[in-house]
Amino acid sequence: MQHLVDKLLKNKTLTKEEFVQLIAGRNPETSEYLFKNARMVREKIYGKDIYIRGLIELTNYCKNDCYYCGIRHANKNVSRYRLKKEQVLACCEQGYRLGFRTFVLQGGEDPYYNVNRMTDIIRSIKQRFPDCAITLSLGENTYETYEAYRKAGADRYLLRHETANPLHYAKLHPSIMSSENRKRCLYDLKRLGFQVGSGFMVGSPFQTVEHLAEDLLFLAELNPHMVGIGPFISHHETPFANEKSGTLELTLFMLAILRLMFPSLLIPSTTALGTIDPFGREQGILSGANVVMPNLSPLDVREKYMIYDNKIATGLESSEYLHMLKEQMRKIGYEVVVARGDYKKQ
Ligand code: 5AD
Repeated sequence: MQHLVDKLLKNKTLTKEEFVQLIAGRNPETSEYLFKNARMVREKIYGKDIYIRGLIELTNYCKNDCYYCGIRHANKNVSRYRLKKEQVLACCEQGYRLGFRTFVLQGGEDPYYNVNRMTDIIRSIKQRFPDCAITLSLGENTYETYEAYRKAGADRYLLRHETANPLHYAKLHPSIMSSENRKRCLYDLKRLGFQVGSGFMVGSPFQTVEHLAEDLLFLAELNPHMVGIGPFISHHETPFANEKSGTLELTLFMLAILRLMFPSLLIPSTTALGTIDPFGREQGILSGANVVMPNLSPLDVREKYMIYDNKIATGLESSEYLHMLKEQMRKIGYEVVVARGDYKKQ
């Protein structure tokens, strides 16, 4: 299998069949070889720097009913909340003092945050923190709305494609959602000049190795600036309550493949990785990730943003423990830096 890693390193992509072979045929030796190369590629571009993003969970209202997600509309056992502009600004204030220079506003698809409210929040943050980047992660919208966000000052947008295969997509979402519209949004965002992030869950229900290969090929076509992946973790109040979760091992393998495909990619070591394994986030970094996103949300809303069971919310992943995160990263040879952490063109 090492020859496929070498080929990926050289050509930055493989055929679908080769990706399937590499993923399905992986073993501890291939993984170690892949991780070593992923670290090398990452260090050539980003050195040992780790970029941090302050995550602000804006709202857990959502009009969608994704079968995997704990804050889906149909879940009546969620205590719903929305943050006010002043609360968001207070989070940014605290984050800025801690050294964050990127704020990520993430939320369910909540119509309360219409274009006027959202652009007002974006402008206010930009005015107060002109040296910071704003990342939005607010789901699907029209070209016009994305354009308004961009004009108000948003720099980046995260929208996972979830799965590139339309049939698989239909097994994870109600029929009013489509893989086609998701992809349309991603291309619109690119056209508008956002730094764009996409991604998918590893080990989601009905996922096959072929699907994972298709995810990689879709990303090769999209050519995003960021890709977030994490294991699927079941949530007890969703239709997928009894489905098996994804594994740390396969997630790390996929992450390292992404690093070889896109040397300059911004790859977060996600909260989901930290949730399934206490050292998940460190292992993500050692497999090629270069970003972490500590939680900056007000303490009282954190446990309300439960997209999957046992999501870590007030422990080491949170911004209050940034000093511990820095220490953990130093221990494995990496350094958290104070910077916007923009995408670096090779
Ligand atoms: N397990 C893991 N990841 C999930 N997400 C949503 N629900 C789950 C879950 N149960 C991911 C989706 C979404 C991102 C915000 O979180 O990929 O895009």
